[in-house]
Amino acid sequence: MESKPINIADYERIAAERLDAGPLAYFGGGAGDEFTMRENVAAYRRWALRPRVLVDVEETTTATTVLGREVSMPILVAPVAVQALAHPDGEAGMARAAAGAGTIMSLSTIASARPAEVAAAAPGGRRWFQLYCFRDRGVTDALVAEAVDSGFEAIVVTVDAPRGGKRERDLRTGFQIPTGIGVPSVEAAVGGGARLGIAEVFQLVDPSLSWPDIERLAAGTEVPVLVKGVLRGDDAELAVEHGAAGVVVSNHGGRQLDGAIATIEALPEVAEAVGGRCEIIIDGGVRRGEDVLVALALGATAVQVGRAALWGLAADGEAGARRVLELLREELDVGLALLGCRSPAEVTRDRVRRVRAVL
Ligand SMILES: Cc1cc2nc3c(=O)[nH]c(=O)nc-3n(C[C@H](O)[C@H](O)[C@H](O)COP(=O)(O)O)c2cc1C
Repeated sequence: MESKPINIADYERIAAERLDAGPLAYFGGGAGDEFTMRENVAAYRRWALRPRVLVDVEETTTATTVLGREVSMPILVAPVAVQALAHPDGEAGMARAAAGAGTIMSLSTIASARPAEVAAAAPGGRRWFQLYCFRDRGVTDALVAEAVDSGFEAIVVTVDAPRGGKRERDLRTGFQIPTGIGVPSVEAAVGGGARLGIAEVFQLVDPSLSWPDIERLAAGTEVPVLVKGVLRGDDAELAVEHGAAGVVVSNHGGRQLDGAIATIEALPEVAEAVGGRCEIIIDGGVRRGEDVLVALALGATAVQVGRAALWGLAADGEAGARRVLELLREELDVGLALLGCRSPAEVTRDRVRRVRAVL
């Protein structure tokens, strides 16, 4: 009998058994030599935790505040495209899993469900909408309007993909989104149900996007705008200056510029530049509750998980995604107590020190 999965690596193994070669390569792969993808995970090992002892940790909480409202934990669900490829529960299942876990899900522009459908699937949940600004601004504006009307609380505009990265696993499998799986936003942008590869989807994205566009978006949208894909302090400052309510320190899970800095290495510079003026979310390589502790200590408000949640969804639909989120919460909860912290807010900079990696 297969033993019960007890960590993210277990879910990854189960997902790998269940998924067909094309989707598995698409989900699991990165750009180029996948250096950045591996570094995202490995770089966490270069930060050692420095626990305080004899702190009364009888009462602990993983709850924290993101964009002014409470979430059950500083672990959010990153936007991941075409989740129906992972499991028939798709984005609706992921939204219910996130809502059940008391956290926020970001819905991708390249989702296999419309914003309104996802909202209807998990009415009580908190959701953000991830935006790719398409060359067709009419389609882009309509997507934002639908998300805002459907109660999405923020727009997360992804800025690290003016072109698609070179995803070699996809090149080898010749991956295309199967005809049976609709991607409403893409269909609106290309005017029909054409069968597209991922590279073709990225051709819809406007590569001329620049800071004035962010300013216009922030000024013209009723909900806060976050900028996803920031890896430098100066860009984080520009995001603040152009009206962003937050930045997501991200290299797209190593799927865009291979060789780009691991996100946890970029975080201290971003946190210093921002100086508390906006929310800082980080994603890339989070596989353990202890990784969350490092990110909090280095200045993040919360982390997002991409592949971890996806492996849960692929392994067991909504229930698997929910369990992955609960596993991470349990690890974080124990980790907080062992670090001598009663809440995420108590995870201060002194709790980590940079060390040579011991792998
Ligand atoms: C299969 C897959 C699809 C993704 N699709 C999107 C997307 O549509 N929009 C986006 O902004 N980021 C997308 N991302 C990036 C994630 O939002 C996130 O930055 C990344 O997965 C974090 O790294 P992790 O997978 O190591 O947690 C995708 C990532 C994966 C693995």
